[in-house]
Amino acid sequence: MSTAGPPQGTKAPSGGSAAASAASVGASTFPAESIWEAVSPRLPGFTVEILPQVDSTNTELMRRARAGRLEPVLLVAEQQTAGRGRLGRGWASQTGDSLTFSLGLPLAPADWSGLSLAVGVSLAESLHPRVQLKWPNDLWLDDRKLAGILIETASFGEPREAQRYAVIGIGINIAERDATGLSTPPAWLREILPQATTAGDALLRIAAPLVQAVQAFETFGFAPFQARFNARDTLRDRPVVLSDGTAGTAHGTSETGALLVHTARGMSAITSSEVSVRPAVP
Ligand code: BTN
Repeated sequence: MSTAGPPQGTKAPSGGSAAASAASVGASTFPAESIWEAVSPRLPGFTVEILPQVDSTNTELMRRARAGRLEPVLLVAEQQTAGRGRLGRGWASQTGDSLTFSLGLPLAPADWSGLSLAVGVSLAESLHPRVQLKWPNDLWLDDRKLAGILIETASFGEPREAQRYAVIGIGINIAERDATGLSTPPAWLREILPQATTAGDALLRIAAPLVQAVQAFETFGFAPFQARFNARDTLRDRPVVLSDGTAGTAHGTSETGALLVHTARGMSAITSSEVSVRPAVP
């Protein structure tokens, strides 16, 4: 394991493996120190940790939160052995071919609606003008999936469980990957950034703006992100099908991040993250 941050004791995570002594582990080099320098002024107590292997960075941070470890941290895994996606799906990735990490921090927005959309906006804007957003949690490129976001929270504190620790998990394809078993064909970052782009390069681009976006969301909610999401909304004005089979046309997001879909029964505001939406096959 490698860490960047103020001096502190560290221990190997229960799902992790042996410690490494520098920020260079495996095939990739992660600029942990640069990220820490960029983020820590606005997030006191922040650390960056690079693990050669863990079951899932989300699972690890949720474990820590339940054990009372609530400090802000960016946890990066070179390899996940049990990566998780939305709707109970898995998230498979190979070392070096993808960037897998989670940002964990205490968060207290007045309204949590739209957090994953705000995260997507930040990532897309940091990565490339061509990156689009697919409600609610995906980054797409030319109708293929470039990245996914999985947000989970753990409650803590007084009055009884009133505060929450947010774990914002992000997986981004960096290099070409096999489409076998994927419900959506994959895209990868090297299609639009230089071929030598590494997971470390991508993390350096996105980390500080991501923290800034999450803090803006905590203060202002989804409102400052709505127009920015809609500008990159890959479903906008397209025929879509919901997971219950309902067909309609997508019309962007509401002020709270709901997906507006015009169906035979009128305009519906889809809020449930358990609903999956796909462009209709012509
Ligand atoms: C999805 O598209 O369904 C969300 C995928 C989220 C994957 C990332 S990889 C880092 C973090 N750890 C996990 O186990 N999942 C998220």
